[in-house]
Amino acid sequence: MGRRILETKIYYAAGDEKNGILEEAAQVIREGGLLAIPTETVYGLGANALDGKAVRKIFEAKGRPQDNPLLIHIPDVLWLEKYCVDIPPLAYRLAEAFWPGPLTMILKAKPCIPNETTCGLKTIGVRCPDNEVTAEIIRLAGVPVAAPSANRSGHPSCTSAEAVLDDFFGSIDGVVDGGVCQVGVESTILDVTCVPARLLRPGGLSLEEIRKIVPEVETDASIYRQLQEGEQPKAPGMKYRHYAPEAPVTAVLGDGLAGAGYIKEHIKASEGVICYEEYLELFTGYECRSLGKEGDPKEHARKVFEVLRSFDKTEVSHIWTQCPGEEGLDLAVSNRIKKASGFHIINV
Ligand code: TXA
Ligand code: MG
Repeated sequence: MGRRILETKIYYAAGDEKNGILEEAAQVIREGGLLAIPTETVYGLGANALDGKAVRKIFEAKGRPQDNPLLIHIPDVLWLEKYCVDIPPLAYRLAEAFWPGPLTMILKAKPCIPNETTCGLKTIGVRCPDNEVTAEIIRLAGVPVAAPSANRSGHPSCTSAEAVLDDFFGSIDGVVDGGVCQVGVESTILDVTCVPARLLRPGGLSLEEIRKIVPEVETDASIYRQLQEGEQPKAPGMKYRHYAPEAPVTAVLGDGLAGAGYIKEHIKASEGVICYEEYLELFTGYECRSLGKEGDPKEHARKVFEVLRSFDKTEVSHIWTQCPGEEGLDLAVSNRIKKASGFHIINV
């Protein structure tokens, strides 16, 4: 509601000049401001997680539903005990294996974490991002940083500072430009308060990797399909329409060549397409984007949000997209694409 930030400052986090900006960026957090930060997954919209008033600004800027709790970001595993209790040994094993990196663990929160951050839950998601600049800003700020993905609520996440500015220029205090995110989809969320641990959101760390440490890990139904009336996902945010560009999306699952053929048969002149690189030439003359090579899940992850967002700068009336299977990072990519389509899915 009418926040009066006239200009969003850009802090360039590259090269030797970065040292000067770190302290200034940390100060934005300490003083209760909103700072977009780069991580290896997607950009986050950060504020002091211990300051309820600062955290409320995140919800306001994003237009985020009030019952969708925030993750906190810490620079190393040593900070875990400051904000969590009853930490199971498994959490330390996972941190040892995967931190810093794209794994968020749900743990029991200490009372120092305000209700604004947890939305009243007894638990908190904790993440240690693999980005040295962001880790250093958090260390200098001296407080954990609450940060959801830095995008308008319901829209695709941002994997570059430019994308963040498209959504938030003039409504946040600053953005730290750390270049393009290397993973491209959000962190994998694992609830370690239960036995066996439970996957709540697939993300930048694959289920196969997690199974090496937790072979018996369970998965939440909301990962694979649309929930029925009355079903509740364990991660509150998984119930909302999500990751959606302005134009409606249809996801085409199954064999790549058959899928591209199906789209080619049905696409109208005003419509856009996201396909594997191999099939780009089928769509000459259309607004067309590549998801990378068909067998390259890491590339799909790096590209998925950027290509979805890119259509908002076009006039397309509808987006057709190929949707990969569930191996490796493709589990996260297919989850994002299915949700972006509102589960409007065609199997070929
Ligand atoms: O990679 C990421 O995780 C990015 C970067 C910025 O760190 N952050 C991110 O945050 O994706 P967000 O808020 O967009 O997604 C967090 C998800 C939401 O679905 C939320 O409902 C869920 O985590 N969540 C947060 N706290 C939770 C809790 N205590 N229990 C279960 N789910 C929780
Ligand atoms: Mg998000």
